[in-house]
Amino acid sequence: MDSTKVSSERLQKVLPDTLAALHQVIERHQVTEEEWSAVLAFLTEVGRHDEFVLLSDVTKTSVLVDAISHEGETGVTPSDVEGPLYREDPPWREKPVKIYEEYEGVENGDVLFVRGRVASAHGTPISGAVLDIWQTGPDGGYDIWDERQPDYNFRGRFGVDEDGSYEFQTMVPKPYTVPTDGPVGRLLEATGQHPWRPAHIHFKVEAEGHEPLITQVFFPDDPYLDNDTIGAVKSALVTPLTKHESEEELRRRGLDAPFYTCEFDITLRPAMSAARA
Ligand code: BEZ
Ligand code: FE
Repeated sequence: MDSTKVSSERLQKVLPDTLAALHQVIERHQVTEEEWSAVLAFLTEVGRHDEFVLLSDVTKTSVLVDAISHEGETGVTPSDVEGPLYREDPPWREKPVKIYEEYEGVENGDVLFVRGRVASAHGTPISGAVLDIWQTGPDGGYDIWDERQPDYNFRGRFGVDEDGSYEFQTMVPKPYTVPTDGPVGRLLEATGQHPWRPAHIHFKVEAEGHEPLITQVFFPDDPYLDNDTIGAVKSALVTPLTKHESEEELRRRGLDAPFYTCEFDITLRPAMSAARA
């Protein structure tokens, strides 16, 4: 986001309140010069390490802003926090869509087919929708951390069918920790906050005439569902996994080990301008 997008009118309204709240805290806790210098040094380091989004996430500020931005929306798929690990321009994946390549460590996971249908809140399928997916592998986290994985592994964009339906092959992700090797990691440690997130898959969905959707899908029985370090779990986004192990199903999919499926239908909100037209 571009900081110049905040209008000076909003800035003149929100900034004085922000400063008043900050000054109140400093006064209430009698913050010392030494402590305030440490805060400034910490924030400087956060900027140097490009961790402001991460800081916003682990302080659950991103979740709060997401909730305010989408307050009162009904009949559409709930949005969720984007997080700092999205990468621009992921590869376009042709059908049948598979968002990963094999690598050493991939055998530690289970194949998952995610499928569903993209529709408008009006109920009509959206044949022109584009999905953009990113997630960790089953072993070693995101591509940017795991040297064994090809670049852009477990990331990809693809279109949907005429009837709005989609399917992609991935692997069941596992819980993982947010980056802990920088200043935000030190803050988590100092405040006794664990760094774990439940397993999830990120979705960005775009379609003409509709508001873009950023969301995440979670899975039942994850130990961190009630305890996500960024607090981003929404019950409507927890999606059951179905295990498939019959010989017939394995043969049909060309697999030699049991696999999973999950269904995630997506409903988009018509764009404000389209709704008014
Ligand atoms: C993630 O889900 O990728 C993520 C979200 C917030 C902070 C760090 C990672
Ligand atoms: Fe993630």
